[in-house]
Amino acid sequence: MQDRIPTDVLRAENIAKSFGKVTALRDINLRLQRGEVLGLLGDNGAGKSTLIKILTGFHRPTSGQLVFEDKPTTLHSVSHARSLGIEAVFQDLALINEVNVYRNMFLRREPVHGGFLGILDDRTMRARAIELLDRMGVKIPSVDEPVARLSGGQRQAIAVARSVYQKAKVLLLDEPTAAMGVKESGLILDVIQRLKREGEVAIIIIAHNYAQIFDVCDRVNLVENGAITFDRPTAETSIQELMDLVVSRYRSARATL
Ligand SMILES: Nc1ncnc2c1ncn2[C@@H]1O[C@H](COP(=O)(O)OP(=O)(O)OP(=O)(O)O)[C@@H](O)[C@H]1O
Ligand SMILES: [Mg+2]
Repeated sequence: MQDRIPTDVLRAENIAKSFGKVTALRDINLRLQRGEVLGLLGDNGAGKSTLIKILTGFHRPTSGQLVFEDKPTTLHSVSHARSLGIEAVFQDLALINEVNVYRNMFLRREPVHGGFLGILDDRTMRARAIELLDRMGVKIPSVDEPVARLSGGQRQAIAVARSVYQKAKVLLLDEPTAAMGVKESGLILDVIQRLKREGEVAIIIIAHNYAQIFDVCDRVNLVENGAITFDRPTAETSIQELMDLVVSRYRSARATL
């Protein structure tokens, strides 16, 4: 029986994506195992965001297929993907700025009071939000503040922690630490590490910072010209090896200019 338990939660098989004459993805083969954190590295324009947008149901692939929990799956929209347990955190769209922290934690999933549909149980939401943020190690001044008053890092950390409540099976993070300082990035990486310890959610994270990828990821994939050209557990490679690879590709590309 053991070998019949699926280990891949999500696979992309021979995915290609064109926008008119632009080929963003040529042939993507990616697998995401249960509970793992997979890092995607790659040059600007390599196709990382396009791939994430396909995995989150935002774009339809031109060809190829997605396999979710061992079933070939067509994602019709972002909300369809979300209903299956595939969540993405995009930098700006993650939270509603004017709304307080604890209500943001329950966006789209507000608990209702005593069965009266539509009446939000504020006290429950507030208490659960405090408990979860505490468990995830997210430190913020108050859950009663609108998120507009928080730093970018705190906002991202809340959005990532929230995926626990959304019962996400797959969490997709496109450059969650972009334009953030060391301390702010650390906040988010800590939350990712805690999520990983909880073991329920598999995560794909895009970052340009190799050290961050090596800190939190179990495996690393390199995306080049719309294909995955390198796939290795982080324990079996090194920042140096990947940097050497990227530098040598860069040099040979320059030589042909
Ligand atoms: N909606 C779109 N319409 C047309 N072309 C697009 C669209 N989205 C992406 N592309 C093109 O597809 C290619 C891959 O872009 P993508 O955003 O996936 O790269 P990326 O790896 O995320 O880069 P970066 O590291 O700079 O974020 C680029 O050539 C880009 O211009
Ligand atoms: Mg991108």
